Amino acid sequence: MTSLSLNKLPFSSNKPPIGVFDSGVGGISVLKHIHALLPHEDLLYVADSKYAPYGSKTPAEITARCFEIADFLIAKNAKALVVACNTATAAAIDAMRAKYDLPIIGMEPAVKPAAAATKSGIIGVLATVGTLKSAQFAALLENYGRNVEVVTQACVGLVECIERGELTSQSTLELVQQYCKPLLEEGADTIVLGCTHYPFVRPLIEQTVGADVTLIDTGEAVARHLQKRLLALNLLADANEGNQLSEITFWTNSEIAQPQLIINQLWGKAAPVNFL
Ligand code: DGL
Repeated sequence: MTSLSLNKLPFSSNKPPIGVFDSGVGGISVLKHIHALLPHEDLLYVADSKYAPYGSKTPAEITARCFEIADFLIAKNAKALVVACNTATAAAIDAMRAKYDLPIIGMEPAVKPAAAATKSGIIGVLATVGTLKSAQFAALLENYGRNVEVVTQACVGLVECIERGELTSQSTLELVQQYCKPLLEEGADTIVLGCTHYPFVRPLIEQTVGADVTLIDTGEAVARHLQKRLLALNLLADANEGNQLSEITFWTNSEIAQPQLIINQLWGKAAPVNFL
């Protein structure tokens, strides 16, 4: 059932799309970078909001969700998948790559660039419980966090605020303040936004940590990595073919009232939103 079909582009394209998904609406922050870099690509986005947050789920539960969404996107002819979720990448990307024969791009907290950028030698990482306790994150610290102090903070409840579209509410601000405080007290001058939901509260984080602290998120790097992989595999959409504009379609299983309003708010314009 399509609940909203505003701004549906006046053509139907046969280009295979790129499938992008997250536990909810957070991965839209990555989708924006992908669309900016690859404006000719058709994009399908799945917000698995009914099962958000992933951060408190077991790796087996998250992997089961990722398989279900991957099957859905592949049935829709996706030529590549982007796991626009740090938590799902940590829990499931190895299993996904073993199961599916198409390019699968994941993401991880930007510890490496943060370690390169810090002047105080102390970096902070805001992420979900699932990401912070994953073996992948431990390996990231082992590889790139050895010469800096890394202060981690799980942001329980913040994903839920963003899922509800509460980007500027007092209670969201209070959570942000609560979670940034220990990082500031430890002297972090660089903070990694280690969850794709958090860029949507970046103004609150900036307001809390001040202009002297650098915030790093990985959305743009993921988009560049995707572009490189598609180019290498000769899978990039041909910008010179007839259909130059792209179609962006959202799917959600959210149980909140009118999730399409939040999706369109985060995407920044009206786009078709379907219900899974
Ligand atoms: N957006 C997901 C991430 O990047 C988070 C979410 C969750 O806990 O659902 O980790």
